[in-house]
Amino acid sequence: MEELKSDIRKRADEIKPYRCKNLIAVLEYPMDIKNIGTVIRNVNALGVEKTYIVDPRNALPEGWEEMRERKSLFKTSVSAINWSFVKRFDSTELCLEHLAKNRFTSVVTSPHVKGKENFVLHEADYTHPKLAVWFGNESRGISDLAVENSAFCVSIPMFGMIESLNLGTTTGIVLYEITKQRREYQEKYKRANRGPNKALHRTSR
Ligand SMILES: C[S@@+](CC[C@H](N)C(=O)[O-])C[C@H]1O[C@@H](n2cnc3c(N)ncnc32)[C@H](O)[C@@H]1O
Repeated sequence: MEELKSDIRKRADEIKPYRCKNLIAVLEYPMDIKNIGTVIRNVNALGVEKTYIVDPRNALPEGWEEMRERKSLFKTSVSAINWSFVKRFDSTELCLEHLAKNRFTSVVTSPHVKGKENFVLHEADYTHPKLAVWFGNESRGISDLAVENSAFCVSIPMFGMIESLNLGTTTGIVLYEITKQRREYQEKYKRANRGPNKALHRTSR
């Protein structure tokens, strides 16, 4: 048991520098528990800090502790729920209010052109200090309210006969690009802050 605990602590220390702080994945009205579990797994695996879920049906428990005890979430997230911060909201309005109060920029995702500005996934910049990325309902997609309150809309280009990707696939692809950009940015910023390497820039006497 002690050995397991120390392995877990070791892994937690190893991944800490790579986690993307101030990055939140927001699921708006997800209907399928399997999708929720898959997204939590993706969020955890890619080092996204938090998941917010707009859940007006009250399908999820209020608190994180109870969510961890929900067997369906534990199974579908392959235990990632144990290591992930998940918060639920009763409505899109309340979630937007909370994000605005905490100075987050929202961006939405859609297979359709919906935003004030629209970008193909890899052509947008995701290095905002605080970023919330919204994913819409399985059948209706993202709400107009979320779109109106977002800086821009992002699409993964589609080259097949079908209209859209499912939530699990979309979150995997979108969050991969976003975490990649944010980690590169964090690394650059850290290097700049370290300042000139003193060993290389010693003043001559
Ligand atoms: C199954 S899709 C919803 C399809 C819905 N008919 C619509 O109009 O968006 C569920 C969510 O996955 C995301 N999504 C699916 N395909 C996408 C794509 N090609 N580009 C960006 N987001 C996508 C969006 O967040 C979407 O709301």
